[in-house]
Amino acid sequence: MAEQNKEIVLSGIRATGNLHLGNYYGALRKFVAVQDDYDCNFFIADLHALTTNPDPAQLHANVKSILAEYLAAGLDPEKSTIFVQSDVPEIAEMYLLLNMHVGIGELMRTTSFKDKARKALGITPSADNDSDEAFEKEIIGAATNKRVNAGLLTYPTLMAVDILIQKATKVPVGKDQLQHLELTRRFARRFNSFYGVELFPEPSDFNFGGAPVKVPGLDGSGKMGKSEGNCIYLIDDPKVLRKKVMRAVTDEGPQAPDSPLSEPIANLFTLLELTSTPEVVKHFRDAYADCSIRYGDLKKQLAEDILAVTTPIRERINDILADEAYLSRVVKMGAERARERAANTLSEMRHIMGIRKF
Ligand code: ADP
Ligand code: TRP
Repeated sequence: MAEQNKEIVLSGIRATGNLHLGNYYGALRKFVAVQDDYDCNFFIADLHALTTNPDPAQLHANVKSILAEYLAAGLDPEKSTIFVQSDVPEIAEMYLLLNMHVGIGELMRTTSFKDKARKALGITPSADNDSDEAFEKEIIGAATNKRVNAGLLTYPTLMAVDILIQKATKVPVGKDQLQHLELTRRFARRFNSFYGVELFPEPSDFNFGGAPVKVPGLDGSGKMGKSEGNCIYLIDDPKVLRKKVMRAVTDEGPQAPDSPLSEPIANLFTLLELTSTPEVVKHFRDAYADCSIRYGDLKKQLAEDILAVTTPIRERINDILADEAYLSRVVKMGAERARERAANTLSEMRHIMGIRKF
């Protein structure tokens, strides 16, 4: 429950699909772990999802499923403020106000914007177009249609508003979001110094004391991610999940005792370390070292251990999704709490900027 003397933690996940093991170990499980010690605020970023123009029915379904997944994984609406971004209209108004202090140049140089704009326009980065100047020319030249919308450009403003409107100081996010957090700090400093106020505290990233986790995919390289198409979802039923794990990429097996692990095998061990007991991990490590390992056995074990984590969550997701009344109670309560602080910040901001009532 929000308490004044606790530090304010805030984080959100975009409403773009079901949550996977990467989201669970990288974000959600940590959200659950800090609920008792901080003033926690977790939301579903549906306005951010609009930057990629989702189908309206799909957007609503995604908001609902992430909400159910948050709750099923252990976020407690009595302890944390759980809300939907668009239920807090103060965010939209502050986004307009803050944009008056944000430069289009700095937005165009943001890595996530460059990536998304290039993707929308089908441009691959090359040595020729990698400099900021070349990119700006290219985008302004190519983006005369709506494929690169203004919302995509101002994505960092909206994210800064999510954080600053709640005056959050601790923001648990993955590595890919650190640049957005740096911009948030810059916008906060700039606003404070332009008006000579101390309105916004500067937020920092937050790993809850542990090292950041990167959950790998099953395709042999890189991280598990929605756009990589290599995910194990919390909602996957046992048949689907077992099939995905059994199909994971491997190699031809260790050729000599104590060989180094190839990337696909190291990835399987990373997943095993997250979900299995130390004894199981040791058993397979020893088997790899003495060349007796059978990848089929490792995968079977891994699938069962992942299922032991996901099955109770999946069952709760399905129960929670069926309880519309509960879901709507949770978001109403969350919106009420989130709006209280948001309304205060917005009214201070309006006053500071000279917007006064007659
Ligand atoms: P995706 O990459 O699947 O689109 P998001 O970018 O929406 O996922 O990430 C939501 C949260 O989950 C972020 O805090 C992000 O850091 C975390 N996350 C996503 N994928 C992974 C992963 N493979 N390992 C660890 N954390 C992850
Ligand atoms: N941009 C974040 C992502 O893609 C989601 C997000 C939106 C967020 N607003 C936020 C995260 C505020 C932390 C704080 O994952």
